[in-house]
Amino acid sequence: MSNVTAFQMADILFTGAGSLAQSPELISGNGLKKPLIVTDKGIVKVGLAKRLQDILDEAGISYALYDGTVPNPTDDNVGEAYAMYQKEGCDCLIGMGGGSSMDTAKGCGVLATSGGTIDEYRGMGLLKAPLPFYIAVPTTAGTGSESTCAAVITNTKGDHHWKMVLLDGKLLPNAAIIDPQLMVGLPPFITAATGMDAMTHAVEAFISVAASEYTDAMAIGAIKLIFKYLRRAVANGNDIEAREKMAYAQTMAGIAFSNGGLGLVHSMAHPLSAFYNIAHGDANALLLPTIIDFNKLACREKLAEIALASGMTDLGPNPEDAAVEALQRLNDDVNIPSSISDAASRIGAKINEADIAALSKDALNEVSTPTNPRVPSIPEIEALYRKCW
Ligand SMILES: [Fe+2]
Repeated sequence: MSNVTAFQMADILFTGAGSLAQSPELISGNGLKKPLIVTDKGIVKVGLAKRLQDILDEAGISYALYDGTVPNPTDDNVGEAYAMYQKEGCDCLIGMGGGSSMDTAKGCGVLATSGGTIDEYRGMGLLKAPLPFYIAVPTTAGTGSESTCAAVITNTKGDHHWKMVLLDGKLLPNAAIIDPQLMVGLPPFITAATGMDAMTHAVEAFISVAASEYTDAMAIGAIKLIFKYLRRAVANGNDIEAREKMAYAQTMAGIAFSNGGLGLVHSMAHPLSAFYNIAHGDANALLLPTIIDFNKLACREKLAEIALASGMTDLGPNPEDAAVEALQRLNDDVNIPSSISDAASRIGAKINEADIAALSKDALNEVSTPTNPRVPSIPEIEALYRKCW
């Protein structure tokens, strides 16, 4: 690894209640005419897409709307969104929703300017050209996609579903609008899962072998905010202070991991979502304490800092264990599934322990595994899956 540190994020971040109103100026101010709004049916149903549409209508900006994004979005979603982008003569993108919608918008942008099919771009730095002008509007406080150079799209074309990770600075949005008012209606279980996704981003970036002073500052700042405010956001969705702090936290965590990398929690969570459709946040959260416990051999001091950031004052003789405890307690408090079986039964998914070999192989090959602080072997990954089963 070289000594040169690069640090990137969206060109501009607007954060705060009411910031959605910035969108028309971003479009016309950049000489653009017609965005494709990429979202999902849930966002349309609860009226969030309409808020954006009303703002654009009032400014006299026409748009097209793709609302077919599914959780764990697929190569088909990307293809459909791009077909609409072309058919409607769009010249820019607004991704509005959770990570699924924002990543589908990124995928659509890749096809618009790099051509071909989305699977050609999985991996690092393969885009041929910058995306069309892209505004990311998160409606959850979790994924951080609005501030990352990553997109995760499920490949549905092989013998089993798996997650393609695209990493490229060209995937960074031109602008992100992080409006906590869009998050007040999120139900507690989604608030919890997405909030713990953000926590996982921050923790994994903080202990990553590619961490820097920049990413550490963002990561530990996010960890503090999430320990302090996630419980409140889950307990009362209308707590606008908690929503706003979580909005900051998720973006800071996104910036941290986009520049500092992730680790084995994400590597093991992605196959669980691809195989069984377990929500990304739940998959991360339920794995997090066990995998951090596995990692502690490599990063004791940093885990002690995480324990302090949780608000603990007496860390005892083994501060790294205190961090694992603090994360587990937060999981329990916000009602995260306690195991893979629990997560699967909550969504009616069928799981099979015989899949552990295949899950582990996919996890080892994930793009985030090389930045995990402890180098894992296949038998160790299998044992970790078993422990969390
Ligand atoms: Fe994540």
